[in-house]
Amino acid sequence: MIVYLNGAYLDRAAARVSVDDRGFLFGDGVYEVTRAVRGHLFAHPHHLRRLERGLHALELAWPVGLGPAELTTVSERLLLENGLADGEATVYVQITRGGEGVPRQHVFPPASTPPTVFVAASRFPSREDLRRRGAAAITEPDVRWGRCDLKTIQLLPNILAKQRAEAAGAYDALLVRDGLVTEGAQSNAFMVLDDVMRTHPPGPRVLTGVTRDVVLEIAAELGLPVREEAVHAIDLSRTSEVFFTGTTTDVMPVVQIDGRPVGTGRPGPVARQLQEKLRERLDAVTASPLA
Ligand code: PDD
Repeated sequence: MIVYLNGAYLDRAAARVSVDDRGFLFGDGVYEVTRAVRGHLFAHPHHLRRLERGLHALELAWPVGLGPAELTTVSERLLLENGLADGEATVYVQITRGGEGVPRQHVFPPASTPPTVFVAASRFPSREDLRRRGAAAITEPDVRWGRCDLKTIQLLPNILAKQRAEAAGAYDALLVRDGLVTEGAQSNAFMVLDDVMRTHPPGPRVLTGVTRDVVLEIAAELGLPVREEAVHAIDLSRTSEVFFTGTTTDVMPVVQIDGRPVGTGRPGPVARQLQEKLRERLDAVTASPLA
C-alpha cells in the first residue's frame, strides 16, 4: 500500500512519524474518513469543511501547499495507485500539530513547526450482510469531553465503548449522557419514535456526521417526519426502529439493544428506504467537486 506522509508517497511499511509528534504524545490533531466510489470521493466538500472547522478550532492552519484542492488530488491519487478506483474505498486523512525536535510540552510548539499530514486509502469494509440482517447495539455512558463536534484523533472513550460493544457481540454502542442518547461510538444514531425519525441536534455533544446530513436530506426528499431532538434512553424500548449512520457504517439498522428486540426485531421500512436512497446517491457519484 502506498500512503502519503508530509509531501511524500511511500510504502506504508516505510512511513515513519517522530516520537515527538503531538499526535502520538497528546492526540493533538484532527482526522477525516471519506467514502469513495469508483475512485470518486463522496460528499467530499462536506468532509473538507468539517476538517477546516476542526483545524480552526485547534488553532491549526492548512498545511503549507496542502489545501482542499491538493488534498483531493492526493486522495484520488492514492485510490488509483492502490488499485482502489474500481469498487468502494475509504480515504483516511490525519493532520496533527507535528512537533519533531520539540521537547514534550503542553503549550504549542513554535509557530514554524510543520504539522504532520498522513493520508491513506483502504478498501471499504462492506458489511452488506449485517446491514440486511440488522445489528445489535449496547448502551454505554457517554463519558467524552465537551467538544464531541470536533473530529479529533483522541478517541479513547469511543474505543472503549466500541470494544465493549464488540465483546457483547454488538456492532456499536448507543452513548447516553444525562439520560439522552447522543450518538454511536463511531456513528450517529437515529430512532423512530411515535412515527417520527429523531436524532440528537447538532452541538458540542455529537459529531455532525456527513452521512447524518445526507440521510436528513434524503428523509426530507422522501417526506419522512424528522425531528432533530434527542431521545431519552428510557424511550428506546418504545422505538419502532433504530439505526446508525456513518461513513464506514452506511445506514446500519439496529434490531436489538442490550439483548432486547427493537420493533419487530428486523430492519424497518425507514432504514431500508434510507439505505436504498443512499446507495443511489453513492452510485451517482462521478467527479469530486472541491466546494
Ligand atoms: N467516524 N459520530 C462519531 C463519534 C464518529 O466517529 C463518526 C464517524 C460519525 C459519523 O460521521 P460521518 O458520517 O461523517 O462518517 C459520528 C469515522 C468514520 C471513524 O472514526 O472511523
